[in-house]
Amino acid sequence: MKRFGLRLVAHIVVFAGPFSSCFCAETGAEAWLRYSALEQQAAKKYERLPAHIVTLNDSLVLKTAQQELIRGVGGMLGRTLRTRVVPFTEPAILLGTIEQLHTLAPVLNIPSNIRQDGYWLAHGQVQGLECVLVASLTERGVLYGVFALLRKIALGEDVLALDEVEQPSAPLRWVNQWDNLDGRIERGYAGASIFFEGGNVRTDLTRAGAYARLLASVGITGCAINNVNADPRVLSDSFLPQLVRVADVFRPWGVRLAVSVDLSAPKTIGGLDTFDPLDSRVAAWWRHKVDDIYRQIPDFGGFVVKADSEGRAGPSSYGRSPADAANVIARALQSHGGVLFYRAFVYDHHLDWRNLKNDRARAAYDIFHPLDGKFENNVVIQIKHGPIDFQVREPVSPLLDGLQHTNEAIELQITQEYTGQQRHLCFLIPMWKEVLDFDMHASTPVKDLVAGKVFQRPTGGFVGVANVGMDVNWMAHPLAMANLYGFGRLAWNPDLGANTIVDEWTRLTFGNDPLVVRTISQTQLSSWHVYESYTGPLGVGTLTNIVGNHYDPGPESSERNGWGQWHRADHEGIGMDRTMATGTGFVGQYAPDVQKLYETLAACPDELLLFFHHVPYTHLLHSGKTVIQHVYDAHYEGADAVGAYVSQWKLLKGHVDEDRYADVLTRLQYQAEQAVVWRDTIDEWFYRMSGIPDAKGRVGHTTSQHQAMVPQVRVRFLDANMGKVVLKQ
Ligand code: GCU
Repeated sequence: MKRFGLRLVAHIVVFAGPFSSCFCAETGAEAWLRYSALEQQAAKKYERLPAHIVTLNDSLVLKTAQQELIRGVGGMLGRTLRTRVVPFTEPAILLGTIEQLHTLAPVLNIPSNIRQDGYWLAHGQVQGLECVLVASLTERGVLYGVFALLRKIALGEDVLALDEVEQPSAPLRWVNQWDNLDGRIERGYAGASIFFEGGNVRTDLTRAGAYARLLASVGITGCAINNVNADPRVLSDSFLPQLVRVADVFRPWGVRLAVSVDLSAPKTIGGLDTFDPLDSRVAAWWRHKVDDIYRQIPDFGGFVVKADSEGRAGPSSYGRSPADAANVIARALQSHGGVLFYRAFVYDHHLDWRNLKNDRARAAYDIFHPLDGKFENNVVIQIKHGPIDFQVREPVSPLLDGLQHTNEAIELQITQEYTGQQRHLCFLIPMWKEVLDFDMHASTPVKDLVAGKVFQRPTGGFVGVANVGMDVNWMAHPLAMANLYGFGRLAWNPDLGANTIVDEWTRLTFGNDPLVVRTISQTQLSSWHVYESYTGPLGVGTLTNIVGNHYDPGPESSERNGWGQWHRADHEGIGMDRTMATGTGFVGQYAPDVQKLYETLAACPDELLLFFHHVPYTHLLHSGKTVIQHVYDAHYEGADAVGAYVSQWKLLKGHVDEDRYADVLTRLQYQAEQAVVWRDTIDEWFYRMSGIPDAKGRVGHTTSQHQAMVPQVRVRFLDANMGKVVLKQ
């Protein structure tokens, strides 16, 4: 908090206004919505931008859109747009719904293919005046159109001769926050909760409102604000007025409030002696509760449920199914237009590791596939992108293709739980792209399945676990914000390339200096592979301490535990045999074409080899290297690559504002040290397990010196993050 205050003051003091070429101190608080002044030459392009703005109704969201446009144009072009009403007498930027625009200008050729929150950006004659048009079926869509218009200006694109329709790929684009009511965030790495403090909703919700603005700017429509490991109290009568306050700050941005709920709430806070989903008293309890919520929050989004998972209460207590549990709540939400996200992250965390046929990866499909078609139409099964748990590399979850008569959403983890916890750089968009583009059967990519397009589902989409915190720049590492931005952009349009996304984000966040754009983009784009190579290559999983902080190297922890995150390493070989022929049979959950890809060693891609097969360390990869030599080399290459990030970043001195330059430099230097620790710990461990020396003679000669320097550096980061790492035991 102290840090927030100091950096904010610095920002205000040195702000120099439009058209200054100085590097203002930057905190990252404005994220990609900096609206910094364009260079004079670039600004010239917008001289003919109308000086007036007309909103066709006075709804809250349109007012927000109007204010945002004034703010953005003011910042970037140094001009103050004047507001006008109909009838107007000068060229204007018109903001309104399609219906209103049609009434005002019946001769306009308005495209008929706009759906949901899609928008039309165009130019045209209205009342004889040349106007820029931003129109949508919904007010929220107009707001998205305004953000798009501002983005175009920031990127120097033409906005005066537009005629384009932009459509979201899927109806549901949500984020989840895993915030606890006491203010800590489970798997949050950027300070305390922006929503809760000391058991209650914060008095000051300024940051929550600012977060809703960020979310709206990339088309996110809903946000569940509390931990999926939900405190039942969030549904208590006394808590509801507090939720109302959060909904109030979300509403201007068209973001719907949602909460995670505990299935046992009818019993724990409702005074019943049961939470059996088939008990009529339980159904009535949920109905009354939901009616009450909608009386006070008419645009409430719905609930997220984690049940029968990692110790959470669930329908299995009464011999009921996830469908029974989901439906009883969904029916209560139905008449209000609410959605129930039921998480497919259900598995036994007391698995017997000695049984070679046991496999946690099978759980989601085994449990939910047989229930396909048994869920209400407003239930969405929320499926993690991989079958385990956000590891640095996993295959796509087969359940994404296992539901044809049930809505689904893909769950992606923006917060970097297993990918360096925002102390290491790991740009996740390339990984998500691979997942979304993966063909599940006969030209059926995951992105179409989750959007509901393949099986004509009424709804579906994307959920990102974001976990932003009170840290001034939201995610602690200035470069980590690209993951939040990229999540929103991909949820809107999964066909966007990782290159496009990172280029947009960098220019919006750091400006258009070609050296800066090139360096940051290249660093970001390579960072996932780099992180993978010095942590857990070949699909073995992130070789981190999985029973502790999910951060330090800890390959030993991935065996002999009940959690089912195993690599099955012994002195001869490594990897989980998940084949149908000799393994756990997990491969059989995929469609035949995908089975062919993973079942045999001959076809299985190197990067997933150890996820699907147990092989000797001497096994020859498609690349021509042995497994063991690949492991040794990858760790050296990865650590070297992070070292190179540091030198490349140093070339940006004087090209990036001093604050962010120094902040990123410190973090990259820390990461470079950590990568060496990872390299030496993992390579040493493989050497001890296999007894096979490194052909290049490096392994076994460097460890102690590097391990000694780590603790002090780490302590500094834990302090900055308020020590909120939640241990999973
Ligand atoms: C991971 C994470 C937990 C979280 C869980 C979930 O296992 O470590 O903290 O609760 O995922 O997604 O529910």
